Amino acid sequence: MRLNNKTAIITGAGSGIGRTIALLFSGEGVKVVVADWSEKNGQETADMIKKQGGSAVFVKTDVSKAEDVAKMADVCLKEFGRIDILVNNAGIVKMGPLHETSEDDWDAVLNVNLKSVFLSCKKVIPEMLKQGKGKIVNIASVAGLVGFENTGPYCASKGGIIALTREMALEYAKNKINVNCIAPGVIKTAMTKDMLADTAAKSGFEAQTPYPRLGEPEDIAQAALYLASDESDFTTGEVLVVDGGWTIR
Ligand SMILES: NC(=O)c1ccc[n+]([C@@H]2O[C@H](COP(=O)([O-])OP(=O)(O)OC[C@H]3O[C@@H](n4cnc5c(N)ncnc54)[C@H](O)[C@@H]3O)[C@@H](O)[C@H]2O)c1
Repeated sequence: MRLNNKTAIITGAGSGIGRTIALLFSGEGVKVVVADWSEKNGQETADMIKKQGGSAVFVKTDVSKAEDVAKMADVCLKEFGRIDILVNNAGIVKMGPLHETSEDDWDAVLNVNLKSVFLSCKKVIPEMLKQGKGKIVNIASVAGLVGFENTGPYCASKGGIIALTREMALEYAKNKINVNCIAPGVIKTAMTKDMLADTAAKSGFEAQTPYPRLGEPEDIAQAALYLASDESDFTTGEVLVVDGGWTIR
């Protein structure tokens, strides 16, 4: 097992990419805190982990709220004694032209996608400093690297995650805390379900992806596993693009 006896907090682990990361990490020996604002989905992931013989605890968490994030970290320490890995994965998207985007939608996307990374890192980094090591993996997006129409707040939040990843990597490298992010391309999850149900849109995404398929949550989970493992100790501040070649043109 690559991560035997490590502990991880994975936000947004009730669905899609986060759930797949949680299950993969658990199979590699990680004790997992499943943090999600959906009680049903989060508990289901924790139950799936236990069913496959792993250790997991679900904590109902709105990652944009400091008190919830504090509870999420406290439960990890109480149940498992330390926090080795933090995966900031929870995210939302609101579609529409920028000039029609409400302030409420702007705030919601920036708070859930970007402020959450600040809040959870602020809470978890002191523990990693005490431990003398830590791994933080932030889930950004290719939308933080190139423009996508009708997703202004989302693009801004993901660009912000990439910038914050580099800042934190620089600040904490001396403490052996690695901070990296992953920029997924189009991945088949609940987030993209409606978009991919439109066959013309789906064909468009496939045509823009040099590798002959769209992404699966497993593709991102494997990248996260590398960034959470000791094999990536000398890698920090990196943006690992996992997009089937979408952004190389
Ligand atoms: N699917 C893609 O094509 C794609 C591409 C690039 C990046 N991403 C990013 O990957 C991450 C995971 O997305 P996904 O595709 O698995 O989507 P998803 O909708 O399947 O999963 C998102 C999870 O986050 C949870 N969540 C949302 N807001 C939350 C909050 N405030 N507090 C706690 N939990 C919250 C949801 O309940 C859900 O379980 C997101 O950050 C997303 O932006 C996805």
